[in-house]
Amino acid sequence: MSAIQRWKSMVEAEHAQSERMRRHEPPPIDHWRPYAQQFRVDPRRTDDLLVNRLIREVQAHQTLLDVGAGGGRLSLPLALNCRHVAAVEPSSSMAEVLRQQASDSSIQNVSLVRAKWEDAEVEAADIVLCCHVLYVVTDIERFVRKLEYNARQSVLVVLYNSAPQSQTYPLWKQIHGEDRLHLPSLPEFQEVLCELDIDARVEILPPQKPRGFDYREQALEQLGRRLYLKPDGRQMAELESMLPDLLEEVEGTLVIRGSQPLEPGLVIWRPKGTQN
Ligand SMILES: C[S@@+](CC[C@H](N)C(=O)[O-])C[C@H]1O[C@@H](n2cnc3c(N)ncnc32)[C@H](O)[C@@H]1O
Repeated sequence: MSAIQRWKSMVEAEHAQSERMRRHEPPPIDHWRPYAQQFRVDPRRTDDLLVNRLIREVQAHQTLLDVGAGGGRLSLPLALNCRHVAAVEPSSSMAEVLRQQASDSSIQNVSLVRAKWEDAEVEAADIVLCCHVLYVVTDIERFVRKLEYNARQSVLVVLYNSAPQSQTYPLWKQIHGEDRLHLPSLPEFQEVLCELDIDARVEILPPQKPRGFDYREQALEQLGRRLYLKPDGRQMAELESMLPDLLEEVEGTLVIRGSQPLEPGLVIWRPKGTQN
């Protein structure tokens, strides 16, 4: 199987497993609504290692396309360091967080394109950024080729070394009696790039501690949703009884005991035919 086919079959298998656990309930219209506020962060923060690293890739006169911009966690600080950012974001709740945060922070050089990347009509930019989006993209070749096509200077992709929810994967066996099927992440992406004949540089960035939960009820609610449990069902009660052993407090937040930090990789390449 080719790397591109393998990527597709991993995404499809994971989605099919989710679908089965949802027991034919329709998927939410906006998957990100319960999480969108977590992507609201101060655009002028100075202690974010990823932002500080990305700022080194942009110059004041340049334009940037942020594909899957979410709540503007990266678009907004980068907008403070370049001429213009076009933020492509299909989720209405995420787009609302971005819009509100831009307005509250008086950042005016950001425009929002409310569409999936596959359908988005955009103008090319000097730099195209795509951070923590690709894990769920089925047609990876088409998506990546469009990133390249719209980049005049460079493409920057950020992905973890394993899928963002991999901390919760061990719970699947305990609650559902089956292993969670893995989404593809950085290692599979590197194989895809190889197959697409894209010569990229990969820089492993400092590990990020697990996001965690602010309090116990939030942990129960979010983990229950990740595991597709009915709020008042038997499995939810089972999960609740597991929480005291499952969670530990680290620096004021609750995290899954023993969960390893995720390592982000920054993948950078210049599309063929662009100037050095
Ligand atoms: C984990 S969030 C990351 C947001 C932001 N890049 C960051 O790092 O904070 C993933 C975002 O990708 C968006 N997304 C998912 N599929 C997409 C697609 N096909 N085209 C564009 N955006 C997409 C989601 O709506 C969500 O806002």
